[in-house]
Amino acid sequence: MCGIVGYIGPRKAYPIIIEGLKRLEYRGYDSAGIALFDGKDLKVSKTKGKVADLEAQVEKEITTTGNVGIGHTRWATHGVPNDVNSHPHVSNSGNLVIIHNGIIENYESLKLELISRGYTFKSDTDTEVLVNLIEEIQKQDNLKLGKAVQVALNQVIGAYAIAVFDKNKPEEIVVARLGSPLAIGIGDNDDEFFIASDASPFLEYTKNAVYLEDEEMAIIRFHKGIKIRKIKDDSVVETFVQELQINLEQIEKGGFDHFMLKEIHEQPKAITDTYRGRLLRNEAIIKMAGVEDNMKKFLNANRIIIVACGTSWHAGLVAEYIFEDLARIPVEVEYASEFRYRNPVINEDDVVIAISQSGETADTLAAIKLAKSKGAFVFGVCNVVGSSIARESDAGAYTHAGPEIGVASTKAFTTQITVLTLIALRLARAKGTISSSDFRTHLLELELIPKKVEKALESDDNIKVISKIYKDAKNFLYLGRGYNFPVALEGALKLKEISYIHAEGYPAAEMKHGPIALIDENMPIAVIATKKGHYEKVVSNIQEIKSRKGKIIGIVTEGDTQVRGLADHVIEVPETLESLSPLLTTIPLQLLSYHIAVMLDKNVDQPRNLAKSVTVE
Ligand code: G6P
Repeated sequence: MCGIVGYIGPRKAYPIIIEGLKRLEYRGYDSAGIALFDGKDLKVSKTKGKVADLEAQVEKEITTTGNVGIGHTRWATHGVPNDVNSHPHVSNSGNLVIIHNGIIENYESLKLELISRGYTFKSDTDTEVLVNLIEEIQKQDNLKLGKAVQVALNQVIGAYAIAVFDKNKPEEIVVARLGSPLAIGIGDNDDEFFIASDASPFLEYTKNAVYLEDEEMAIIRFHKGIKIRKIKDDSVVETFVQELQINLEQIEKGGFDHFMLKEIHEQPKAITDTYRGRLLRNEAIIKMAGVEDNMKKFLNANRIIIVACGTSWHAGLVAEYIFEDLARIPVEVEYASEFRYRNPVINEDDVVIAISQSGETADTLAAIKLAKSKGAFVFGVCNVVGSSIARESDAGAYTHAGPEIGVASTKAFTTQITVLTLIALRLARAKGTISSSDFRTHLLELELIPKKVEKALESDDNIKVISKIYKDAKNFLYLGRGYNFPVALEGALKLKEISYIHAEGYPAAEMKHGPIALIDENMPIAVIATKKGHYEKVVSNIQEIKSRKGKIIGIVTEGDTQVRGLADHVIEVPETLESLSPLLTTIPLQLLSYHIAVMLDKNVDQPRNLAKSVTVE
C-alpha cells in the first residue's frame, strides 16, 4: 500500500508525478504529497485527502518548476492521516527528502536514539525517523547519499520501497526495496528516469523498466544510468531491463464512470484471455506449463492447501469445491494471515496454492515463504506479472485479467476461478477421476462462459431498479449453497467494501442456526438459487425467509418459475454446470453492490480505509 512516484530528467517533473500519483491512488488515498527541486531549493506540499486535493493545493503553495521530484499517496499505518504525517518527509537539516511505502518496525528505538542526538520530529511516522537516520549516518561518517542509505537500511527492520533525494546532489535519486514493489522506467539514452510502485505512471513515456528485487537498492543518476547493488553486502547486481507488455488503454476508464464498472464489463474478455491457449477443446486437452512440469508433485500431493486473502480467499473456497469434486484431492483453504502465525502442519507432500491478484499481499507472501521453508511445493496464481508472489512461487499460472484498478476486486475473482478450474480439470483428467465425456462437457461449457457472462450483464437495468429499492437498507444477507456459498461471501464483501452497508454471507442452510433471527421485513436477502446444485433445498430456505417477511432477491437460472413465484425480485443468469455457476452468479452481485454504492454517492473505486495492494501485515 502507498504509492510512490519519482522523476529525474529533462521534462517538468510536476505533471508526471501528479498524474502518476492519480494512477497509483488504488494503493492508498489517505493523504498525498510532493517534493520538487526547482534548481535551488526543495519545495514540499502535502495534504490529508486525495491526489485531487493535493493538486488543488500545490499551485497555491509552491512553484511547480523543476526537473526532479518525488511524490506519494498514502495508506496510513503509523500516525493518523493528516497533513503532517503525509509524505514526503524532510530531514532536520532540510537537505534530504524521502517517500516510503512500507513499515519500519524498529522505528521507536531508532527514534529515541536520534532524539538523544538532538533530532526533533514533526510527525508520528516511521518514515521521518528513516530520513533522519540516513542524515545522521551521512553526517557522522561523511558518506555519500547512496552509502548512507545502505548503512541505514541495514539497521532497519521492516518493509520498504523508498526514494531519497538530497538537494545538494540534485542529479541523483536513491531507491531501495524490501517487501514493497519498486519499478524504474528508463528513458532513451539514460536521459530520464521514472520511479514508481508499478509501471502505470510512466507507460506513456517508456516501455523499458527495471524491477528491483527485495534487498536491492539503485542509485539513479541523470545521464549516467542506474547502479544496482545488494543492500546487505554491497555486491553489484546486473541491471535487467524488461520490455513492458501493458499499454495505457488498459489502465484508463474507457468511457465507463468507474474502473469497477469497466472491470465488471471486461470479464467476458478477461475470462477468454485466461483460458486462451490453455483450453484446447478440439484436441480435448488442457495445457498449462506450470502444471504439466510439476504433474508429479500434484499427483502425489497428500492435500492441497490454498492460502489467500480477501476476494482471492473466496476464489480459493470455490476452488476447494472444484478440486475435491472433480480431482478428488483433499483441499484446505486458509486465510494467509492465520496460516502464517499458527504453526501449521506442512510437509513435503503438500502442494500450496497461493492466490493473489496483486501478487504483493504481505500475508500471502509470508505464508508461501513459510510453506517453502517446510519443503512444500508452492504454486502461485497471480494477476500481476513479475510480482513478488509470482517470483517467490516454485511454479504458477497467471490470470490474464489485465490491470485491475478498482479497489473492489471483480475480474480478478472470475479469472482466478477460471485458472483454478482449468487446473482442477487437468488434474482430474490425469488422475482419471473425470470421464472423458464429462471432461469434454466441462471444456465446452467453460468456453461458453464469456458469452453467458455477457448475457448476465444484460440484467443491469433490472439490478439498478432493485438497487434503488434497497439502497437505504442497514443490513444485507447473502445466502448460497455448495459452489455458490463462496459467491454469497463474495457478494457480501463487495457490498461492505464499497457501500459501507453491513452484509453477511452464509451457507443457505446455516441460516437457521443464527442469522434467521435477524430477518424481518426490513432485511433484504440475496439468495443464489440456480437450478443445478441443491435447488430444492434452497427453495425451502427461501420459504423460511418468506414466512418471516424478509425481502428476497433471487439469483436464478433463466426461465425459473418456482423462485420467481416466491421472491420479491429475481435476477436471471444463463444455465451452466454447477461447478462453473460461480462465474455467472457473481456477476449480478457485483452489479448490485456497484449500483447501490453509486446511488449512495460513495467513492466506488476508492472506498474508505481500503487499498488494493496490502503490503503490510
Ligand atoms: C485487499 C483488496 C482486496 C483483495 C485482497 C487480497 O484487501 O482490497 O480486493 O481481495 O487485498 O489481495 P490480492 O492482491 O492478494 O488478491
